[in-house]
Amino acid sequence: MKLITPLGASLRASLSAYMRAERIARFGRHGLLALGCVLVLSLFGSSFWQAGTSLQALGDLQRHAERTGRVDSLMIQLVEAENGVRGYLLTRNRAYLEPYLNSLATVTYTLDDIHLDLGKGPENEQILAQLTGLITLRMRILSDEVERGQLIDRSASADGRRYMDEIRKTLGEIKRRTRVQGQQSFEASIAHVDRTRWVVATLAGGALALLVVLFLVLRAQVRLREQITRLLAQENVRLERQVRARTAELSDLASYLTNTREAEKARLARELHDELGALLTAVRMDVAWIARKLDPAVLAPHRERFDRLLRTLDSGIALKRRIIDDLRPPLLQELGLVAALRTLGEEFAKNTGIQVALDLPDGDLILPPETSLALFRIAQEALTNVRRHAQASHVDLSLRVGPERLQLAVADDGAGFDADSAHGRHGLAGMRHRVQMFAGDFAIDSRPGEGTQIRASLPYEGVVQPEPATDAAQ
Ligand SMILES: Nc1ncnc2c1ncn2[C@@H]1O[C@H](COP(=O)(O)OP(=O)(O)OP(=O)(O)O)[C@@H](O)[C@H]1O
Ligand SMILES: [Mg+2]
Repeated sequence: MKLITPLGASLRASLSAYMRAERIARFGRHGLLALGCVLVLSLFGSSFWQAGTSLQALGDLQRHAERTGRVDSLMIQLVEAENGVRGYLLTRNRAYLEPYLNSLATVTYTLDDIHLDLGKGPENEQILAQLTGLITLRMRILSDEVERGQLIDRSASADGRRYMDEIRKTLGEIKRRTRVQGQQSFEASIAHVDRTRWVVATLAGGALALLVVLFLVLRAQVRLREQITRLLAQENVRLERQVRARTAELSDLASYLTNTREAEKARLARELHDELGALLTAVRMDVAWIARKLDPAVLAPHRERFDRLLRTLDSGIALKRRIIDDLRPPLLQELGLVAALRTLGEEFAKNTGIQVALDLPDGDLILPPETSLALFRIAQEALTNVRRHAQASHVDLSLRVGPERLQLAVADDGAGFDADSAHGRHGLAGMRHRVQMFAGDFAIDSRPGEGTQIRASLPYEGVVQPEPATDAAQ
């Protein structure tokens, strides 16, 4: 008989799906985590890069403004120098020469700065050389006029104007080149920012997609886990139901066997009593009759044999009675449980020499025959155990009647035993089963060296008969 069926197919399938998903998820999780780290680091790097590029674009704008300012400042220095010299020539006040003298000192530095701004290259070198030449010529005319203290001839002043116009044009060209350069570098920076913007957006999108994938993977795992928990709970319920059903089956079987055994014992006892009993009694009577009827002279040589035959027949009859008593508790049917227990206790004391204290109801109890038999058998097996295992000197046998329960207890002061580890035999299990058949409680209270107490408590709704049980036997 297969007691418990294996795991349900749906649970097996879910478990293997879970293991598969778990294996995939383990590798997937690590891969996704590594990818996530790479994405976040790249995002961080690109953002940093984008910020740098934007800063560079702003720096370019500022530098472009400074370069344009330097070109304008050169023109202003020259115009102020020219105006200063004119003022001096008209008023002879040397204070007017200050801008001219300042320009003499700063023009060269400004030219160097513009040179640096423009950068190298033949075209730039050429235009700067041209500008330097023009400025030198213009400053020379101005210095001649300051030295002489008057305007030099008309042609020189026309040259001065022409040089200034040329200088203005050249500076205009330099400004244009500076603007073009600035524009190019600014546009390059803007294009850079634009590119990094897309890179950042793509990386952020990737990170978001990764988060979504991670979320989906985790959600799928959580759902699978929930499903398995649900299936396991169902499986538990199924197994518990099966165990309950099998336990009930086994219990029914044990009850059937117990009842059958009792019925068989009763049948045997009846047969022995009715058939063998009648037979032995008839033989004994016949033998006694023959002994009586025979002539004493004829009987005398065989007297001893006749007496032995009668004794043997008496022993056979006594043996038959003992066997019947063993098979069918004496007095139980005739006098009831209380009287049967009393006799059992007294017989036990007589046969074993162990002192027995009885605590039994005064009258008999009205009980179904099966309940009486069960309680009697429990007491019988408990006393047999005392005799076989306890080496006790004293036993208490009690039957107490409560409002709703009937409690039988057999306690000895013997060797005791470890009730948790006493397995493998049938006496205690049989007692427990008999009690369970009546929905009662069974308890063993024992520890090595501390004696043993067996308690069987059965539901009881009857009453104690007021009349003594012995009346029924008469
Ligand atoms: N009153 C007792 N005192 C000491 N030990 C006991 C007592 N009753 C039971 N035991 C211990 O418990 C064990 C189990 O008892 P149980 O009646 O189930 O089996 P058994 O008496 O050994 O064999 P059987 O199946 O013939 O009854 C015994 O072997 C014994 O060791
Ligand atoms: Mg036993």
